[in-house]
Amino acid sequence: MSDKYYKNDLLKILYTEQQINEGVEKLARQIEEYYKDKSGTLLAVGILKGSVVFMGELLKRLNIPCEIDFMKCSSYGSGTTSSGVIAIKCDLSKSDISDCNILVIEDILDTGNTLKKILQHLTERGAKSVKLCTLLDKPDRRKVDIEADFVAFKIPDEFVVGYGLDFDEKYRNMPEIGVLKPEIYQK
Ligand code: PRP
Repeated sequence: MSDKYYKNDLLKILYTEQQINEGVEKLARQIEEYYKDKSGTLLAVGILKGSVVFMGELLKRLNIPCEIDFMKCSSYGSGTTSSGVIAIKCDLSKSDISDCNILVIEDILDTGNTLKKILQHLTERGAKSVKLCTLLDKPDRRKVDIEADFVAFKIPDEFVVGYGLDFDEKYRNMPEIGVLKPEIYQK
């Protein structure tokens, strides 16, 4: 990564672009297998903003029909902290989801507060089914009881950025996933 703009901000690269591609490809095959014979509409719901890079890479590898929608949440907190209070800032554009098998797509499952709220909301709105797919899972940080149905990588409790994940809105466009130097987020 010698010529990358972010190289001096990282402790190390956790996953290279190639490793991520392999992980995403594997996930796509699992998801395809799971949904291929299900009745109803597969609706992939990306949670803004962190999921966008992963979502695009995943969905173009799925060889089954699929619709796309988005939601956005806000957790009251800033920087590296979160209060655990989650509000839905932007709901699905689709109103009747009774025929939809919803696959929520996230970049990271951390404390679980955000995804718990989202899964509960979509279930209450009457989705036919709701499953969760996450690129990264940090089980050591979990505060609520939630597991993802499809996971590419389980990671240790380190501050990761890239491939959609940010610190202060930066690093989302990195093609790889790296561990941020503490001096960057402890400033
Ligand atoms: C991140 C991430 C998940 C959530 C996971 O989003 O994309 O939505 O935090 O954390 P949790 O499991 O502790 O709830 P964030 O609120 O930082 O917004 P972003 O996607 O716009 O970066």
